[in-house]
Amino acid sequence: MSAALPVLDRLDRVKLVHGPTPLEALPRLSDRLGGPRIYVKRDDCTGFAAGGNKGRKLEYLMGAALKAGADTVITVGAVQTNHGRQTAAAAAKLGLRCVLVLTDSVPGRSAAYHASGNFLLDRLTGAECRVVPAEVNGEEEMERIADELRRAGRVVYVIPGGGSSPIGALGYAVAGEEIAAQTKAAGIRPSAVVHATGSNGTQVGLLLGLAASGIPVTGVTVRRTKADQEARVKALLERTVTELQLDPKLKDCVVEADDRFVGPGYGQPSPGMVEAVRLAAECEGLFLDPVYTGKGFAGLIQRIREGRYRKDDSVVFVHTGGLPGLFVYDEAFA
Ligand SMILES: Cc1ncc(COP(=O)(O)O)c(C=O)c1O
Repeated sequence: MSAALPVLDRLDRVKLVHGPTPLEALPRLSDRLGGPRIYVKRDDCTGFAAGGNKGRKLEYLMGAALKAGADTVITVGAVQTNHGRQTAAAAAKLGLRCVLVLTDSVPGRSAAYHASGNFLLDRLTGAECRVVPAEVNGEEEMERIADELRRAGRVVYVIPGGGSSPIGALGYAVAGEEIAAQTKAAGIRPSAVVHATGSNGTQVGLLLGLAASGIPVTGVTVRRTKADQEARVKALLERTVTELQLDPKLKDCVVEADDRFVGPGYGQPSPGMVEAVRLAAECEGLFLDPVYTGKGFAGLIQRIREGRYRKDDSVVFVHTGGLPGLFVYDEAFA
């Protein structure tokens, strides 16, 4: 039951996530960085289909797809999209067909990038994978294929990249509510919740789920500039509040993005990402991923080094998953 967002209890939902996921302290990492107290929300442990943040969105997106009578879902992402892997797995579990439009948009990747990791898992589910070159607009290609399938008699539910429609975003509010409840129960008042932000749904969901507690959220971008990301998060927040008829005051949530950790570009390794992935593994046995959480955690490390949090402050990092991608970036850690 959600007291602050009762709409969550009214929407159709398919159970996928093994939740609530744990909130854990990272004391050795806190010591190594000289404070604050760092906690991690283990959304890499959402369970279904190797875990990660998309499971929470997909519970509601798949609920909507089944309600619409869909026999097919289609979505879009990069070749190593985690969202694609979880969508393909959810479709398999529900007996739906799945088409993934995968843009080959990250330059200079290895043979493994095009064969293993998430892409291998996609194919194991039986999803139809259509890899398109970088210059093709993936969203447009997805709409074109969806129309083609409809003309062939299929009932298609289109899931935007990252699952970041209003319904998908709202699904992530559940994680925000869990963080609010878990920190309160542990007597912790976080100065910030920090996470990697891409297609915006995770940030919008966290903002909605944490709004009642007043805990601030910082999204570390993996692709876009601060201004661009903040504008997109605000736009999705407003759409979500309007379309799902939430309290209009929620449109005023403070949106903050930090764009200093993208490195050379989306999906391209950076020294900060490599340091973050190594530190989390060495200090805590915690495995981050190279595309999202590694860069998000690099952002948290830098913000700690800049003295933005006091030693006795608490901060929560949301581990949004992505482990399958680590295995196709082995050369970044050579
Ligand atoms: C592992 C991981 N973390 C974070 C994100 C970012 O979430 P969002 O796209 O909702 O901003 C993604 C998106 O694909 C992801 O796969």
